[in-house]
Amino acid sequence: EWWADERKSQTPESKAIEEAANLLRTSDTPVAFPTETVYGLGADATRSAAVQGIYRAKQRPSDNPLIVHVDSIDMLDKLLNPSQQSPGVAQTPRIPLPPIYEPLIKRFWPGPITIILPNPSGSDLAPEVTSNLTTFGARMPSSPLARLLIHATDRPLAAPSANASTKPSPTTAQHVHHDLKGRIDLILDGGASGVGVESTVVDGLCNPPAILRPGGIGIDELREVPGWENVEVAYRDGTLGVKEIPRAPGMKYRHYSPKARVVLFKAESNPEGVARHVRKDLQDSAIGAHNIGIVRTRHWKQGLGLAPEDVVASTIQPVAAPIDNLVSFPVPVQETGSPSSRTKVAYDYHLGDDTTSIAHGLFAVLRALDEFDVDVIYVEGISDSDGDLAAAVMNRLRKAAGTEMKA
Ligand code: TXA
Ligand code: MG
Repeated sequence: EWWADERKSQTPESKAIEEAANLLRTSDTPVAFPTETVYGLGADATRSAAVQGIYRAKQRPSDNPLIVHVDSIDMLDKLLNPSQQSPGVAQTPRIPLPPIYEPLIKRFWPGPITIILPNPSGSDLAPEVTSNLTTFGARMPSSPLARLLIHATDRPLAAPSANASTKPSPTTAQHVHHDLKGRIDLILDGGASGVGVESTVVDGLCNPPAILRPGGIGIDELREVPGWENVEVAYRDGTLGVKEIPRAPGMKYRHYSPKARVVLFKAESNPEGVARHVRKDLQDSAIGAHNIGIVRTRHWKQGLGLAPEDVVASTIQPVAAPIDNLVSFPVPVQETGSPSSRTKVAYDYHLGDDTTSIAHGLFAVLRALDEFDVDVIYVEGISDSDGDLAAAVMNRLRKAAGTEMKA
């Protein structure tokens, strides 16, 4: 097996995995672990007390169901057919995986897509996992560390994102530590999550199938899969048509929000117009923008020109941050009602111009700006139609933002 060498050799990693697995089997306190999308807060999905520990640590509303993470199709098959595991229990006909999911799994698992399945009667899943829905969400992460952990635990792991409820999802072990220190006993550190936004949640039990949450796999990729050509968007979003009330219960909550107010600018907003807006905010004492954050993507590459070039050049200071390329500089502005000019600090960050690096850095930069205690974060949006991850990025930003503006 692909993990056999890993386990025999007792590397520091395999010892950490064993320790985490042991906690997951015995403790009611969840364990944080990396996945390719974001860090998860895991518990044995078959034990109520352990699953309750997740809701407790995150302070998550209990009507928001959790995703069940499996390491193999075999583990999923056992969840669909709980009676098959207990000898002596009358054998009912085996429940197969709904055929619509077969090509999808073949194409995208292991990877960032979660499928909704019927929760069978006599299910092994703790009722807290599904929040008493008749379905459950399942995914097989592509992160080898995540799969090794599930395998070592030998249980399906219920795991939401490992942030405090409503905060941006964590993409590093440090983010998890920041939110949950003192509440959990162990974080497996696998470095930064590659994708940076959560898995796509799809429901193939309805016709046509539906996307309940946009994520790591985009609608264009889904439409290439047999049976998924007419997949519909069933989540609430600023620009995509709203068909109905969000069907992933989690989509109704305030989410992904830093402490600071987020002002989202539409794709290709003019940097000069944005700069005017920012200056006005900085000078308006009612808005109270003191320290601010700027998150640039494709179009504002040269910056907003907030301060004269020479001032910026002579005072740029790299700031210790969990992300690269973050710089801060004082913006000289006149405070209304104050005769003296008071220095405010702008933290300026360019996420890059390709969607992959934008998704990868998004949550990290929102968290870093919170650390710097900024009051407002101005974000350059991207176009929803820019392909697979772009819509997912904009979905997260709209949830974080108080306002969406055009400049
Ligand atoms: O990438 C991810 O999916 C991450 C990593 C850790 O795997 N997990 C994650 O979990 O984002 P969470 O709990 O933050 O989001 C789960 C989403 C929520 O929107 C929830 O409402 C939805 O999946 N969901 C779970 N079970 C569902 C069900 N039976 N029916 C509809 N939506 C469901
Ligand atoms: Mg979450």
